[in-house]
Amino acid sequence: MRRAGASARAFAPRRRAGYGRRVSDHLARLNRATAGLDPPFAVVDLDAYRANARDLLRRAGGRPIRLASKSIRCRALLERTLASDDGFRGTLAFTLPEALWLADRGLRDLCVAYPTADRAALRALAERDDDAGIAVMVDDVAQLDLIEAAVAGAGARAVAGGTAPAGAKPAGGPRAIRVCIEADAGWRPLGGRVRIGVKRSPLHAPAQVAALAREIASRPALRLVGLMAYEAQIAGLGDRPPGRPLMGAVLRAVQRASARELARRRAEIVAAVREVAPDLEYVNGGGTGSIELTAAEPAVTEVAAGSGLYGPTLFDAYTRFSPRPAALFALPVVRRPGRGVVAALGGGYLASGPADRARLPRPVLPAGLRLDAREGAGEVQTPLLGAAADALAIGDRVWLRHAKAGELCERFDALHLVEGDEVVETVPTYRGEGCCFL
Ligand SMILES: Cc1ncc(COP(=O)(O)O)c(C=O)c1O
Repeated sequence: MRRAGASARAFAPRRRAGYGRRVSDHLARLNRATAGLDPPFAVVDLDAYRANARDLLRRAGGRPIRLASKSIRCRALLERTLASDDGFRGTLAFTLPEALWLADRGLRDLCVAYPTADRAALRALAERDDDAGIAVMVDDVAQLDLIEAAVAGAGARAVAGGTAPAGAKPAGGPRAIRVCIEADAGWRPLGGRVRIGVKRSPLHAPAQVAALAREIASRPALRLVGLMAYEAQIAGLGDRPPGRPLMGAVLRAVQRASARELARRRAEIVAAVREVAPDLEYVNGGGTGSIELTAAEPAVTEVAAGSGLYGPTLFDAYTRFSPRPAALFALPVVRRPGRGVVAALGGGYLASGPADRARLPRPVLPAGLRLDAREGAGEVQTPLLGAAADALAIGDRVWLRHAKAGELCERFDALHLVEGDEVVETVPTYRGEGCCFL
């Protein structure tokens, strides 16, 4: 699994295949496929989606990929991707109610990636009489207290066969809650005076993580099954910011150093936790932007990824890979405010994160359209500027890409799945199934 020099090679800038030249062919095909639909609507181009899936598997080099459901938010695609290849294994859910909902529909091996304070959902988890393999994320003793208090009143339930599995409560009590510890994957150079990474888990040093593992082991209502450390500063931060080559070089140097430090520390964390919990089921790390680096670490048993399937615009800015744009949305042109501008209906689908221009959707067809600097993408109307606007008539459609992945699905009830020149199927998003988890 380990490839010598993988880290150094992975950080070397590489020429990108480039979407630009193929853009009009791709989108002319999407126009033909969806000619019978009235925008606004969203599509997933299955040819691009499958190519992206293959590329994720290639980059994982044999390590299983746990699907980050927040970046997909469509059950049909989640299920089909998991069924498509053994290399996709398990789901990294984003809320406990979501994980319970997916488990009710047959999904198994669900790890909830973000801590929960939902007492009712925890009680429902404790009362389940199947073993859907749901684990909840923890990084703080206060969370353990909250979980224990929430499940203390859960109804009695016999454990099948009368023999409790390892770590479970005796027959008649609720099953032990499976928990996963998240360790901080950030980098703290200069003796900790500088902090690079996201503000999530407070557990940075191996001893801190091992102490929480011991605390979990001392509580019969809990069972430690997993360890996760997500290096957002590498996986979620493009190392080739458009028009800023110097910044790109700095980012690559910082990411390289951070990856080196993390590989060392993650191995120590895993060793320390395995002393307390030798039957740890998984060690999860990484995301779309870091797969090849994370998968090369011997201490990691699986990687997480999701965004790389839809290929949103924030993932255009990486040197290591180039997902194909698979998820797009179409808006109708409804007005012509003047020369060089049309107005499309809707479109204000901003991505979460720091409020900068990179979070705006990007018009991609026809080529040569841009958002208006003052109005951006609007709640009900989006002006689109550029010479290409003059060739557009009322009733024509324009195509845009979202900056992030799954958030697009919060705007549409359905995804039209395109294969070749036709829509082969229409599947509901989470929203289309009446679900709004976050
Ligand atoms: C815990 C965790 N793991 C993995 C990922 C990677 O997801 P994606 O591949 O969609 O970028 C994320 C994204 O934010 C995350 O929060």
